[in-house]
Amino acid sequence: MNYRIAVIKGDGIGPEIVTEAMGVIEAVGEKFGHTFQFVDVLLGGCATDAVGKSYPDGTAEKCKSCDAVLLGAVGGPKWGPDKPAEQRPETALLAIRKDLGLYANLRHATLRPALVDYSPLKRETAEKGIDIMMVRELIGGIYFGKRDRYETPDRGVECTDLMAYSEMEIERIGRRAFELARLRKKKLASVDKANVLETSRLWRSVMHRIAADYPDVELTDVLVDNCAMQLVRDPSQFDVIVTENMFGDILSDEASMVTGSLGMLPSASIGSEAPGLYEPIHGSAPDIAGQDKANPIATILSVAMMFKYSFQLPKEAAAIEAAVDKALADGWRTADIAKPGETAIGCKKMGEIICGNI
Ligand code: IPM
Ligand code: MG
Repeated sequence: MNYRIAVIKGDGIGPEIVTEAMGVIEAVGEKFGHTFQFVDVLLGGCATDAVGKSYPDGTAEKCKSCDAVLLGAVGGPKWGPDKPAEQRPETALLAIRKDLGLYANLRHATLRPALVDYSPLKRETAEKGIDIMMVRELIGGIYFGKRDRYETPDRGVECTDLMAYSEMEIERIGRRAFELARLRKKKLASVDKANVLETSRLWRSVMHRIAADYPDVELTDVLVDNCAMQLVRDPSQFDVIVTENMFGDILSDEASMVTGSLGMLPSASIGSEAPGLYEPIHGSAPDIAGQDKANPIATILSVAMMFKYSFQLPKEAAAIEAAVDKALADGWRTADIAKPGETAIGCKKMGEIICGNI
């Protein structure tokens, strides 16, 4: 098969990590007999610099002409919150998610066997294992609600951000999560703040209603504050977690940190139609950009998710994961996962080693 992949290198370390991930895609193609066509797409701060806006016209159409989208990272201090919205990289990220209808964001937090010692948790806790599929609603809630800023007569400026959720939006992400849970340990934790928020009460009632269609999956309600606590107390209790946009943003950073390195975790964003979008969970790390110090593994594992979820090629996905695990088992470390005294290799070298393992 020939696949067309839209490539958004983005800002900071984006170009370096994406280059290594593209190498892995080529290596998989050679081994398994697929060909790939890469389509460069400009998005993020680099687009602001080149054409004056972070989300150039025609971006969504270009991506839609492809089978999948690979994204490095966007953002950086140069395009900070004080800049107009159309110049900010984050605006572009939210726009592409919305325009491609990517309502389900899958963030897979796993403690890779070679890295148990790197978790900030106590060894006896980490050893119980971490393998959490976080399913985050990605195109609704407070991220996309109406915003306002106005003067008040006596309290200065006041702002509002509206969090809205419809039954339709909750049901489609809920069904995705139940289906994923079915393919795993059949345990689903639905995270909300139903003791306070009306959107959460609706969330909870929809989850309970659709649960009737998945009697083989055990559904638990977890309040978001309790979930944050449980993730550091004993993350091994979780299998699939489903939650709304902002809770998912926060909890997925926490879930990834307990595995030891933000530099290791991939994500997939999928809607009801192709293309899906695949990106590492971490940001653009401007402080180390262009120095060949970044860890390309999260992006490479995102490619594994691409093969699995967009191309339905699980063998190829497994080959990528095995190649990463072998590199780690052989002791290769980038700076972010090297312990004091261990020699770190660069981004390029890590990419080469993983390609070699494929
Ligand atoms: C993420 C990021 C984004 C988000 C930012 C960069 C807008 O933190 O993908 O988790 O909040 O969704
Ligand atoms: Mg985030």
